[in-house]
Amino acid sequence: MPLADKLKPPPDRLYGRARGHTLRARQAELLLHLLPRLRWPDQGFPPTIDDIWLEVGAGSFEHAETIANQNPTIGLIACEVFENGIASLLSRLAPVG
Ligand SMILES: C[S@@+](CC[C@H](N)C(=O)[O-])C[C@H]1O[C@@H](n2cnc3c(N)ncnc32)[C@H](O)[C@@H]1O
Repeated sequence: MPLADKLKPPPDRLYGRARGHTLRARQAELLLHLLPRLRWPDQGFPPTIDDIWLEVGAGSFEHAETIANQNPTIGLIACEVFENGIASLLSRLAPVG
């Protein structure tokens, strides 16, 4: 039997709620229309950055925003699995009005 077949799959770990609150209409619109239009810049981070930091589980991205503002010479990659968190980020990127 190949080794890969003997290994147990990794546990499905999700810390926190598996399901979020129902999205508001505007949040659903932003996920549907704004998110697909956002892309990783072709050039990546500028060569002037000192370091690259990664935040896994960025929630609503408030912490990531604070870290980015306090550390303008780093490149920050912030990840979130919950669509509520992504919707919260999109709401701040596209304020009403
Ligand atoms: C307690 S919140 C922290 C949010 C943010 N880092 C802060 O300090 O304000 C934890 C976050 O981790 C995310 N998360 C949970 N399980 C995860 C997993 N397996 N991989 C990546 N993110 C996960 C949750 O969706 C949640 O947004």
